[in-house]
Amino acid sequence: MYLSRLQLYNFKNHSELSLNYCDGINTITGANGIGKTNILDAVHYLANAKSYFNGIDSQIIQHNKDFFSIKGVFESDPATEILVQFETGKKTLKKNNKPYKRLIDHIGLIQTVFITPYDIELVLGSSEARRKFIDLTLCQIDKGYLHNLSIYKKTLDHRNALLKGIPGNSIDPDLLDSFDAKLIPAGNFIYHQRKLFVDTLMQFFTPVYNFLSQSDENPIVSYESQLNSEDFETVLHKSQRSDISAQRSTTGIHKDDLGFELGNYSLKKYGSQGQIKSFIIALKLAQYQFFQSLTQKNPILLLDDIFEKIDVDRAQRLISLISDSGYGQIIITDTHTSRVDTHFKDLDSNSVHHQL
Ligand SMILES: Nc1ncnc2c1ncn2[C@@H]1O[C@H](COP(=O)(O)OP(=O)(O)OP(=O)(O)O)[C@@H](O)[C@H]1O
Ligand SMILES: [Mg+2]
Repeated sequence: MYLSRLQLYNFKNHSELSLNYCDGINTITGANGIGKTNILDAVHYLANAKSYFNGIDSQIIQHNKDFFSIKGVFESDPATEILVQFETGKKTLKKNNKPYKRLIDHIGLIQTVFITPYDIELVLGSSEARRKFIDLTLCQIDKGYLHNLSIYKKTLDHRNALLKGIPGNSIDPDLLDSFDAKLIPAGNFIYHQRKLFVDTLMQFFTPVYNFLSQSDENPIVSYESQLNSEDFETVLHKSQRSDISAQRSTTGIHKDDLGFELGNYSLKKYGSQGQIKSFIIALKLAQYQFFQSLTQKNPILLLDDIFEKIDVDRAQRLISLISDSGYGQIIITDTHTSRVDTHFKDLDSNSVHHQL
């Protein structure tokens, strides 16, 4: 299944835009601010029913307009049309003109892997960005994960509200226990899925990073969780006193993180810009292979400004990797048409180029 046509109305800076794509390599070039990243975000939106960057749909509507829509035609047998509309605070999602009852029913139909300069947050930002990466991956393929995550988040909010409302040490233990009884199974489910995911991801990640860098830098991605050494029930029980004094839940999978290392040193502290970028690319291509291995389908690969910050050799190796038959549809943006031309001139695979 690949995207053959994308139509945007009032989506961020695009008042009206319609572009066709092939099932191979698609390139979009144009000046800064013309809307290249926004196009990739629209594709991400079609697959995930939300923006990669901005969770507030009203801010996605073009300034001074009152709705936005995204329509995508996906070639399969028969073709599938997905339409997203957002107007007066309400989002509707339709597949072949039929509205979904719940947005969650759409999840899993199309997978996307997005690599963008904003992903630098994954390395330099807080643990929230890294948990979001894990959650976005697992939510795209596992409705059970999405369901448990939503229970966990809701219950955690209630638990925190209870802790905040406690004056001194007077606590209703039954109420706290009832929240914990919900939190524990959801947290355990999420923990096991995340652990399995990181283990599998590492198998794909290391060869990709080593191929791109042609070095022996020993890249490591590790899953850091309070649940690695003790089960959630024990952890939660032990932290009850500190939770009450801190007035929030101090333990659980909402504290999980990913550790990134290169040659036994922290990537955040010691990695060069090109090493960090290569690490992120390898991480995302591992995410791609993770999807592939589970769904037997090719996700759509969205490569935003991919050649910035990586050297020519790494760029060439990246191109040789993604133009391999193992990858499906790819949409690449760049500010330099000439750079894209140079990189792809020798490829005989199916390709389309759009200059904005
Ligand atoms: N709701 C909105 N209404 C109107 N314009 C918007 C809205 N949201 C974002 N924009 C604008 O869209 C423009 C294009 O953004 P985008 O990031 O897609 O550009 P780009 O082509 O990727 O640029 P660059 O080469 O610098 O990465 C930005 O100037 C941004 O301000
Ligand atoms: Mg951009």
